[in-house]
Amino acid sequence: MTPRHTFPPLFRGQQSLLHGGDYNPEQWSEDVWASDAEMMREASVNSVTLGVFSWVNLEPEEGRYTFDWLDKIMDIQARDGRTVGLATPTAAVPGWLSQKYPEVLRKTPTGDRRKHGNRVNMCWSSPVFQEKSLEIGSKLAERYGSHPALAFWHISNEYGGHCYCELCEQKFREWLQIRYGTLDSVNTAYWAKFWSHTYTDWNQITIPGEPIGETSVHGLTMDWKRFSSQQIIDFYKLERDNLKSFTPDVPCTTNLMGTYDVVDGFAIAKEMDFVSWDSYPWFTNRPYDVTGWIQASFLHDLNRSMKQGKPFLLMECAPSASNWYSVMHLKRPGQHTLEGLQAVAHGADGVQYFQWRQSSGSMEQYHGAVVAHNDRREARVFQDVVSLGGTLQRLDGVIGAPVPSQVAVIYDWEVDWSIQTGLGYRSQRPQYGRTVLEHYKALFELNIETDVIDSVSDFSSYKLVVAPMLYMLRPGVADSLAQFVRDGGTLVLTYLSAWVDEDSQAFRGGYPEPLRSALGIWSEELDELYPDQQNRVQWNDGIFATSDYSELIHLSGAEALGSYADDFYSGRAAVTRNQYGKGAAYYVASRNEASFTRSLLGQITQELGIFAPVSAQVPEGVSLRRRVGAEGDFVFVLNYNSKPAHVDLETESLLDAETRESIGSVVELPPFGSRVFVRPLVGSRVELR
Ligand code: GLA
Ligand code: ZN
Repeated sequence: MTPRHTFPPLFRGQQSLLHGGDYNPEQWSEDVWASDAEMMREASVNSVTLGVFSWVNLEPEEGRYTFDWLDKIMDIQARDGRTVGLATPTAAVPGWLSQKYPEVLRKTPTGDRRKHGNRVNMCWSSPVFQEKSLEIGSKLAERYGSHPALAFWHISNEYGGHCYCELCEQKFREWLQIRYGTLDSVNTAYWAKFWSHTYTDWNQITIPGEPIGETSVHGLTMDWKRFSSQQIIDFYKLERDNLKSFTPDVPCTTNLMGTYDVVDGFAIAKEMDFVSWDSYPWFTNRPYDVTGWIQASFLHDLNRSMKQGKPFLLMECAPSASNWYSVMHLKRPGQHTLEGLQAVAHGADGVQYFQWRQSSGSMEQYHGAVVAHNDRREARVFQDVVSLGGTLQRLDGVIGAPVPSQVAVIYDWEVDWSIQTGLGYRSQRPQYGRTVLEHYKALFELNIETDVIDSVSDFSSYKLVVAPMLYMLRPGVADSLAQFVRDGGTLVLTYLSAWVDEDSQAFRGGYPEPLRSALGIWSEELDELYPDQQNRVQWNDGIFATSDYSELIHLSGAEALGSYADDFYSGRAAVTRNQYGKGAAYYVASRNEASFTRSLLGQITQELGIFAPVSAQVPEGVSLRRRVGAEGDFVFVLNYNSKPAHVDLETESLLDAETRESIGSVVELPPFGSRVFVRPLVGSRVELR
């Protein structure tokens, strides 16, 4: 039997799926530590994150270090067989540093220096901040680089925000000089003759944005977003390269935040050994909550896809409610395990929490934690964590197992920025992220495994690529999408695709100009509807409501599959298909109701032979996922409903992944119930470990 391809573990020697989280023992007296260790054992915690924001505890004054507490706590972890993700503490500036070197603090958009306080409050460009960050990183690496508990470096924490100081502005100009070479090129790219914007000196270029900066030059705004993302990535790399010089074999990561605007996740992921991210879905407990569960699935798939399918670490999630939710609604029974197994089903090789022990005071006093203010083991939240911990420890065969997606949806930070930056067609807000999510949702509801990739990814392993609102074409994208279709792929594009190039300048000749041959259409006008207006699209015997956007397109080779039913463009093509090379390209010209998207993608996936991971009868809101392990497929059955679900798996060949007992074909899941099964490879020996 040929061995199945699996990814390496997150770090050398990883034995189990990780279970643990942010641990801040420095906030507690040492007599609490023994109880922490006992409770961690009970909860099958095998991994802790130490040192996030701990700078002043490690360096209480410049050059004086106090590692004794960390020595002890690292030794306790090693003694108990737990691994440590050791953080560099650079996500919060200590008071002595901002007092002595105020330039480490950021400036606001109006040029005021921020006062000391909060976190992620630093100027990325400050030479002092860089130097001090490297110093504390070096001290940690020298001291703990060969500590038996050290598993990986957790660099800083949730990078974000902007600094508007003169130094950052100068760095921005230098970045532009490298990007464009000459001012002429800048002026050309920015269409700068408009409103007399032509720059005649580099120093005329300033950081754009409200309330006092330039807002009318799209190219400049885009470049500030690109620069800001790169500035953060460079800061990460500075810390990473320093740590690697001491510990070349210890993996480095930093925790990302979904589709957070400021850092291009795909770009920073390239610099990480594995991706990690912090998931705080918004659970409303409505029976089927798109903004919670599906969005979390989408974001897990995004984070997995950032490193071409390599499993990621769920670095943080809340064991109970997060304090910043507008309503701190409790997790319902079953939801905790469901949330953890959902992450694993979508490619996580570990589930960690923020945080282990609930703070007694300060900002996150009421944020959910594993050990609540009541300090009790019998507490519901603690017992939920114990239960999930036990389950995860029995699923070690999942480590490194890929999610076998044949479909990809494109979510691209640069496209998102370009749509936000464009000043027309905004009255309804273009809602790029929501539109991508709605297409993902259709695939999710069809139980089709999906990668979430950016537009400069390699498409060759997919049968179907869905790219909603691909407004900006980054360099090379038109060619690679056309090639993908020529080679036999199926592509779905929508309205507002391929309108501008990377300089935010409109393509002339009829959008989506560079993709016109592949799509066999051209788009003449876009009708934006008022919020209370609709059109309708006739497709496949059905009639579907549209909203917000209708493009008026012409066929130039494609066939019309559907047409508008109302208004002066009634009868004109609204859904098209073009045979191109060995593949096909679809164009959906209007924003259609969700049932349309689901029907279209359902039909296309069926034609392409792309199906759910197991053939099963499942009610709406029950998700089927798979990870292809060395010893067999792990099949996850996840009930996101607040009511029980009857699932008919139509096969007797699945075993319970924890007990390895046969389960028959019918499974009854309670509200928010979740189960993991294994479908052993024929001929493989599946043993209970
Ligand atoms: C983020 C941070 C944590 C904590 C949590 C609270 O994810 O990384 O330090 O503040 O939010 O939800
Ligand atoms: Zn700055």
